[in-house]
Amino acid sequence: MNQTILHNKVRELLLANQHISNGYQYTMPSREKYPFQWLWDSCFHVFMYLRCSQAENAKKELLSLVSHQFKNGMIPHMIYWNRAKKDDFPVIHWGKPDTSTITQPPMLAHAAWAIYEAVGDRAFLQEIYPKLTAFFRFLLTDRDPRNVHLLGIIDPDESGEDNSPRFDAPLNLPPRQTQKENFAKRLKLVEDNRKCHFEGRCMRNFFWVRDVPFNVITIRNLRCLADIANVLDKKQDREYFDHQATAITAAMRQYMFEDGLFWPTWGIRPKRIKLKTWHIFAPLYAHLYTRDEAEAIVQKYLFKDGFDTSYGLPTVASDEASYDPSGFWRGPVWMASNWFIYKGLRLYGMDDMAAKIRQLSLDLIEQSGFREQFNPKNGDGEGARDFTWGGLTLDMDA
Ligand code: GLC
Repeated sequence: MNQTILHNKVRELLLANQHISNGYQYTMPSREKYPFQWLWDSCFHVFMYLRCSQAENAKKELLSLVSHQFKNGMIPHMIYWNRAKKDDFPVIHWGKPDTSTITQPPMLAHAAWAIYEAVGDRAFLQEIYPKLTAFFRFLLTDRDPRNVHLLGIIDPDESGEDNSPRFDAPLNLPPRQTQKENFAKRLKLVEDNRKCHFEGRCMRNFFWVRDVPFNVITIRNLRCLADIANVLDKKQDREYFDHQATAITAAMRQYMFEDGLFWPTWGIRPKRIKLKTWHIFAPLYAHLYTRDEAEAIVQKYLFKDGFDTSYGLPTVASDEASYDPSGFWRGPVWMASNWFIYKGLRLYGMDDMAAKIRQLSLDLIEQSGFREQFNPKNGDGEGARDFTWGGLTLDMDA
């Protein structure tokens, strides 16, 4: 697909999925399946809007996302805005009327920084900065109550990869399972969450995963937050957030690194989750691997060893017992994982490999349209239609 056509299609899709509620504007990931606002989706939309020269829409997207921040700083992963819009959406008793009570990978600082880099709007940074700092301070305390410098998630949905097999052991589920069985376990966690008044210290007795992508994303976003603090002349904050990013980087190496790869851990007495999923490439995005390590990983795993399916990088390696080519986060190719890996490879100057991911992503859209996920064996589109994440390809430079 040529760049101009792609550009037009993404712009049309974003505009068609825009929604205004109570004076706030956000973009639905999909009109048919996901008509509400989701945290990391909105951050992805920012990168797409910027590529469409629509910085105002990008700013609105982030400002609506931070509008429902909790008193303790948490930003919920879902804001329902106008719930009546879709009454067949699964009812989840979060304990709050308008939002969920869990969060999602904290992409907000990277997104805000991208807006500043694109249009240099210091006033926007000033407006959003208190919300961002409150959110990251919440993560750094509530999600790290023992000051280990690794953040825990209290529900698989906080990873954005709802039913990934990385969470099977913590949920006590076998590698082969139905989506219904998986969802039932996650609903139970929401009940526990309500009893725990949404606090990490209590919730970690039920589900506590120090996940690789979540911590990697936190590191990269803390660096962006430090850059923002710098622009706003907040020297102490800049040092604090940089220091926190460095501390998480060191802790990841100390507790998660084994056999050349980073592995998530689970439980209060942490055990490693040694499953091959796309997360092994995620640390590239925050430059956590040394040059030699990165080269070794690319040589051994990128498009190889279970990651060699014909249509790009599956989210789960095909030689894992849990691999299912149409299993939502249990195998299909997703544009978000492709984007993180693309960005990571570019940081290391591995431009040929990055270009390959870009091309495979574009081929999938060409073949199957803007779908939620893609079957890695035949490229078929699955899940939601007119799903925005295909627009991330616009943010992959040729
Ligand atoms: C699904 C995805 C999640 C996303 C949401 C809205 O739940 O797993 O990552 O945020 O849909 O697109």
